[in-house]
Amino acid sequence: MRHKQEENSAYETQIVSAVRQDEAGTIQGAKLIQAGELVAFPTETVYGLGANGLNGEAVAKIFAAKGRPADNPLIEHISKKSDVRELWSRMPKQAQILMDTFWPGPLTLVAPKSDKVPDEVTAGLDTVAVRMPQNKTARALIAKAGVPIAAPSANRSGRPSPTTAQHVLDDLGGRIPLIIDGGPCKYGVESTVLSLVGEPTILRPGAITREMLAAVIGEVRVSESILNPMKAGEVAASPGMKYQHYAPNAEVIVILGSPEQAAKRINALYREAEAEGKTAEIAATEQTRQHYKGRRHVVLGDRKEPETLCANLFAALREMDTRADLILAEGIPAEDEGLAYMNRLLRAAGFRVIDASKD
Ligand code: TXA
Ligand code: MG
Repeated sequence: MRHKQEENSAYETQIVSAVRQDEAGTIQGAKLIQAGELVAFPTETVYGLGANGLNGEAVAKIFAAKGRPADNPLIEHISKKSDVRELWSRMPKQAQILMDTFWPGPLTLVAPKSDKVPDEVTAGLDTVAVRMPQNKTARALIAKAGVPIAAPSANRSGRPSPTTAQHVLDDLGGRIPLIIDGGPCKYGVESTVLSLVGEPTILRPGAITREMLAAVIGEVRVSESILNPMKAGEVAASPGMKYQHYAPNAEVIVILGSPEQAAKRINALYREAEAEGKTAEIAATEQTRQHYKGRRHVVLGDRKEPETLCANLFAALREMDTRADLILAEGIPAEDEGLAYMNRLLRAAGFRVIDASKD
């Protein structure tokens, strides 16, 4: 499939299916990576936009294609654990057991960088984030390229992360030569980012939860900024946290409370919005769907299985954004995988929250 956009069409973006065409995509992708070009590829979390992670000039193209601020560092992706040694100057003491337990998988580890890692990857920091993805197509691409692949999520900066090849095409069509299509992503939210510089600290929550990490290495701190907006003048532990993230064009409001409380308040807000001539849509759950009959809504999943909500969140935000001026989304307890869900949802909402438990 080929696609050309009106503006910024330096490339005719090609999509190759990793499912139907097996190795064709990773062979073609590896050649492009070696030539210093960009390739979008599937991972188990979200689609990544990759470049040769040892080549600063190639990495700089990622920032241009995404419109990403230059001070937001990237993650290096590797295909085997031992490759971490050329990227880190030393192994933090908890690193080996974490790698053995959670790699390949959605856990990114931050440690002091080696001289081999270009400043374009780390945005000038003296640490580098590394992960070994679970997705087999991703690992085949990295292994064939023969270099670590630096990759952020493959969306235009500030947009929801892409969980299908179509999302990547919508955002980056014409800006990159190749998208490898591996189908929808399994987790749908980005990897957990854990800093091993000083006390182990979660900088971004994901499918590997604080509880799972603590069971292996003992106490793990959670950065305060995960559920709170940054205060003016505060320095971000992870530069990515200071930017408005995951945001659709529609206004998003998060409604907290029990399923019944949330549904009641959401229905009132929906009626008000419609009376003002706005188009509202509801991000609902299995527990509340019966309250929204006759109203525009998408059921994201089960409140008791927050991983189902995570898997559908970004796709649902993109879809609702094509129809709605206002998205009313139910909040859930920020526990276990619910923490990753609320972290993304609150950012999409610019921290606009209504607590219906006080109604
Ligand atoms: O699941 C994922 O992690 C996806 C897939 C493609 O692997 N990648 C991803 O990349 O989400 P990106 O660039 O969208 O997010 C990387 C996050 C940012 O919040 C960034 O600030 C943080 O990791 N990060 C990267 N290097 C860091 C470092 N040295 N110290 C602290 N935070 C870092
Ligand atoms: Mg991103």
